[in-house]
Amino acid sequence: MADLTTSYVGLTLNNPIIVSSAGISGTAEMIRRAADAGAGAVSMKSLGDRHWTSPRMAVLKRGNSIDSWTFYSSEGNSKLSEEEYAAEIALAKASVSIPVIASLSCMNDDDWVRRSTLIAQAGADALELDISCPHAAHMLITRNSLSEIGRVTALVKSTVSIPVIPKLTPQSDDPTTVALDAQNGNADAVVMFNRFTGLDVDLESQQPILHGGLAGHGGPWAIYYVMRWISEAYPKMTIPISSSGGVWSGEDVAKMLLVGATTVQTCTAVYFEGYSVLSKMVRGLEDYMDRMGHQQVSDFRGRAAARLTSAAVIDRGRQYLATIDPERCIECGECANICIYDAPNPASSGGYEIIPGLCVGCGLCAELCPVGSISVREVSR
Ligand SMILES: Cc1cc2nc3c(=O)[nH]c(=O)nc-3n(C[C@H](O)[C@H](O)[C@H](O)COP(=O)(O)O)c2cc1C
Ligand code: SF4
Ligand code: SF4
Repeated sequence: MADLTTSYVGLTLNNPIIVSSAGISGTAEMIRRAADAGAGAVSMKSLGDRHWTSPRMAVLKRGNSIDSWTFYSSEGNSKLSEEEYAAEIALAKASVSIPVIASLSCMNDDDWVRRSTLIAQAGADALELDISCPHAAHMLITRNSLSEIGRVTALVKSTVSIPVIPKLTPQSDDPTTVALDAQNGNADAVVMFNRFTGLDVDLESQQPILHGGLAGHGGPWAIYYVMRWISEAYPKMTIPISSSGGVWSGEDVAKMLLVGATTVQTCTAVYFEGYSVLSKMVRGLEDYMDRMGHQQVSDFRGRAAARLTSAAVIDRGRQYLATIDPERCIECGECANICIYDAPNPASSGGYEIIPGLCVGCGLCAELCPVGSISVREVSR
């Protein structure tokens, strides 16, 4: 049986899955629900200036497919005052045995110092620094999260003795350098990433939707962007990386570990499927590890990052060819419709066939054939 125990910033987690900072982790009761469902740890909703706005949420592009929609939302900082937030930490710590990570978002140094001190005194096990909210001032108005990260991390580190974990924005052309800035600021780990800033407009009122401003957007599609940057940062960093973005299943958790994450955060999946999705993720990760013969999560952490092939050494001579299984083809014509090389054609004997001289082996028809009658294989040069 796989052992999912994970060491993270000096804490011991039953498994690497952390419920991300959001409305779903806003109270001690919610943290208890996450713990009961199997979370390895919880990161609390961020405490910040109390510019409370009611959470507004929309699901965009929902019609296309389960994996293509976008969760678009705008939610302010925690509704709680500083004192209430500290009391909620203490209550959560008394109710659960898993680590409770607080989260803080401030606009000036005095607030960083006062609030981080309060949070540490309240008993939080660690502290995330949220200067990457996609629709808040750090990203939009007064500050640039990229230049602030090292300085703010160093300030909070010099204030409290609990682990300090800055949460990075994905909106940079070089997140690895930002992660290294955080490490130089003495961070204990980094979270990669918060969500992207987005905008959607209503065609009838011709106004931006929800609160009328910019909002955060994410969804299952975000996982590929996050994996790409963690795979690059992981070999260069000495502190752990906590992934955040697009994780929906135990297999997704395993993928994040394979590219180098130490812990794996999840948020939107909990919004859409409830806290019970956490136990499914834990089981999915156990199943994967058992199937692959891994005893510990550290057995395969970073393995795919180490196997990344650079563009310079890709074998450009490889060729592929699609073929259609005539027994399964239902003659829908979809392959002929989508192939820009005109390789699939009606066969004289009925059904469809691929003209080898036209097929470049891209594989798109095999992905889109409704009955899976197309296969693609490597052919000799
Ligand atoms: C409604 C909502 C509220 C959020 N609030 C916070 C927050 O207060 N602090 C924070 O650091 N991240 C916040 N996030 C970002 C999440 O913690 C997480 O990083 C992000 O949603 C990406 O993960 P996911 O793809 O699993 O949702 C919020 C996300 C959503 C959807
Ligand atoms: S998409 Fe599949 S089922 Fe449809 S014509 Fe092509 S091979 Fe046949
Ligand atoms: S593999 Fe690509 S090129 Fe070949 S038939 Fe299918 S879509 Fe066309």
